[in-house]
Amino acid sequence: MRSRSAPERPRAGLAAAAAAGLLASLAGAEAALGAEHLLPRPQTGASGSVERALAARRSVRAFRSGPISLAQAGQLLWAAQGLTGAQGRRAAPSAGALYPLRLYLAAGAVEGLAPGLYRYEPQSHALALTSAGDARRALAAASGQAWIAGAPAVVLFAADPRRTAGRYGARADRFVQIEAGAAAENLSLQAVALGLGSTFVGAFDEAALQRSVALAPGERPVLLLPLGRPATDPGR
Ligand SMILES: Cc1cc2nc3c(=O)[nH]c(=O)nc-3n(C[C@H](O)[C@H](O)[C@H](O)COP(=O)(O)O)c2cc1C
Repeated sequence: MRSRSAPERPRAGLAAAAAAGLLASLAGAEAALGAEHLLPRPQTGASGSVERALAARRSVRAFRSGPISLAQAGQLLWAAQGLTGAQGRRAAPSAGALYPLRLYLAAGAVEGLAPGLYRYEPQSHALALTSAGDARRALAAASGQAWIAGAPAVVLFAADPRRTAGRYGARADRFVQIEAGAAAENLSLQAVALGLGSTFVGAFDEAALQRSVALAPGERPVLLLPLGRPATDPGR
């Protein structure tokens, strides 16, 4: 069991998980389903300007070999859906603060993580293993885009629109799409600031993707973001 050094504040979900002995070793390849992997604390200080990231962002579809770090993976997930304020407020806006998005990390080459599909848990800033084994090829196949399997990791944006529909009715689907776009743009700009690259992937067979990765009941895939270190300078 490892814990993040000098956490800013204790987190109830994490404390409970630790007490229950559920935190898996970060390097453990034999993690049980549902076991939580604590992510390094996200950086919230300046690492570059928004303008620089905006000017440098390009879709990246070819990646250098070698893993990304767990800290990078955690920072990217935090940028998209991490907690940033009181009452569970997150880094991206959400209609009615209902937060229908669910992020999954298909880890293929992430330091300290066994290949698998992990659900991001914003409350504890942790990853929970939902299925063991490399899911990147399945995501690539469901998209008909082979290059996706070459990314060290793929973030799958899923959503449970029922959360939003309870208050906003027929507008829920539109709101979910808007929120996914905002969160994904956060992630893509954070990637640039970390020297990484990503691409929005919206062209996939939803049914095939649903068959190949086990999302929670009610969740639907919205967007994929393969990411890693660009193989070449993305240019302009
Ligand atoms: C909603 C959406 C869906 C997209 N789907 C794909 C996709 O399935 N595959 C892909 O390679 N690029 C996809 N893209 C990326 C666009 O091709 C890319 O943003 C565009 O060519 C502009 O290039 P830039 O992102 O480098 O500025 C998508 C972009 C958006 C916004």
